[in-house]
Amino acid sequence: MIDKNEFYREFSSKIFSSPIIDTALKSVNEHLKKILPLEVVFLVRRDEALESLRVIANAAVGTTAYPKEIIPTPQSLWLKLLTFDRHSPYIGDKDDELSCQLSKFARLSAFSHLIVPLWRDKNLLGFLSIIAKGNGQYSMEHVDLFHTVASPSAVALANAIAHENLLRFQERLIDENRFLSNELLHTRDAEIIGANGGMKHVLELVRQVAPLNNTVLLLGETGTGKEVIANSIHFASPRKDGPFIKVNCGAIPENLIDSELFGHEKGAFTGAAGEKRGRFERANGGTIFLDEIGELPLQVQVRLLRVIQNREIERVGGTRSIPVDIRIIAATHRNLETMISEGKFREDLWFRLNVFPLFIPPLRQRVEDIPSLTHYFLKRKSRELGLGKLPAIAPGALSRLADYDWPGNVRELENLVERELIRNQGGRILFDTLVPKKLSTSTPTEQSIGNLVTTNLDEVISNHINMILHMTEGKVHGPHGAAVLLGIKSSTLRAKMDKLGIRYGRRK
Ligand SMILES: Nc1ncnc2c1ncn2[C@@H]1O[C@H](COP(=O)(O)OP(=O)(O)OP(=O)(O)O)[C@@H](O)[C@H]1O
Ligand SMILES: [Mg+2]
Repeated sequence: MIDKNEFYREFSSKIFSSPIIDTALKSVNEHLKKILPLEVVFLVRRDEALESLRVIANAAVGTTAYPKEIIPTPQSLWLKLLTFDRHSPYIGDKDDELSCQLSKFARLSAFSHLIVPLWRDKNLLGFLSIIAKGNGQYSMEHVDLFHTVASPSAVALANAIAHENLLRFQERLIDENRFLSNELLHTRDAEIIGANGGMKHVLELVRQVAPLNNTVLLLGETGTGKEVIANSIHFASPRKDGPFIKVNCGAIPENLIDSELFGHEKGAFTGAAGEKRGRFERANGGTIFLDEIGELPLQVQVRLLRVIQNREIERVGGTRSIPVDIRIIAATHRNLETMISEGKFREDLWFRLNVFPLFIPPLRQRVEDIPSLTHYFLKRKSRELGLGKLPAIAPGALSRLADYDWPGNVRELENLVERELIRNQGGRILFDTLVPKKLSTSTPTEQSIGNLVTTNLDEVISNHINMILHMTEGKVHGPHGAAVLLGIKSSTLRAKMDKLGIRYGRRK
């Protein structure tokens, strides 16, 4: 005969022996196995979010520990738990659905099962479940003993749940913090230069489209200001107080892109220690900016299409759908129609994105904006670089800028201004390193080649020949001439140059 008071005292001192519930349950296990038949003892939580029973801690005799897992909880059982009315411990049997499901955790063919419902006030928190090998191991005396410890077990489970929630919130805060500090590097109060010049038409369209909720597709060469425009659409929209979340589709490694976009549940894959909200979830109530949409792998395009259609996401390793209220702005410098014809971009996704295409003209087509952009960047960069006095621009320097081709567009101008400021500290800004347009079109730099969005074969050949001619300073034949480098006869090269309209002459 076991002394009830003694059992209560010992059990309570064990279950509260550590703030880490796994450790505490191990002590409980050590204690219990001296008193009654025991294979495994585990604490199960009723998880509202998952609508499932979930093992929160367990301690087994023999085996080191069972993996923590979600107990398969059919809808019928979950509904039963909502009106569960047992307050006393009882011996589970084959007719009891709860006992059948819980006991699966022990993976025994013949077993005995003692279930202690754990209540706090009027809430059923979960169960303490005790399983032994073989049938008929538990008696009414055991049931009676557990009457005394139901209450401390419930307190322990409540503490463990609170601790788990706390850890989750902490993880979420750390994650959020890391994300926001990253994000702050990108966002800035974007002033748009050229609003009354070359960007006038674009900004008119922005004004029209911003108040609506439709998807916008921003098109334009690299560095033209697609991100600036995406920003201004968001901040001119009713979602302006919500988040503006940017995704650079080309910069996320392919194996992480799903979890980055849609998030993952705890343990969804190796390394997924905690749950993580994806960028779509974070953008809830605001705008998601899908930059470089043309770089998205095809299988992710399928999932994106589903999000656009259904406005809900599923986390990696998750089973529930999470509704998201988002506006989508996508951008690319690529020609998506060409990509569709090459089978690299899904046509159905393009239809969804192309509701309101907005083309941002390259800088060479809005030369009138160059002086104001230059002044704007001079001011901003001087401030950022901590230069005291604003330098003067040398006469003729601005016309040099107007003469240049700007393959890198506004970003190239921004970088050039910064370089010039550093180079001419205190002096006048000359912009004398620029190669004027006529030469630059025929001597593409490495960068401009990278930026070219051309797929026209003649254009590609012409660019290549021009680059080689630039290297040979215009020399076509002879030992160091372009024909030798290209591996063709000089007569063939001349014929090609004539056909493609490439000019002859020495180049520097
Ligand atoms: N109209 C503008 N007024 C002021 N700054 C601008 C303007 N357009 C672009 N910029 C600046 O030029 C740089 C490039 O712009 P942005 O990043 O928006 O270009 P992008 O089209 O997204 O380029 P990419 O295709 O390379 O991503 C940024 O630093 C941005 O602040
Ligand atoms: Mg961009």
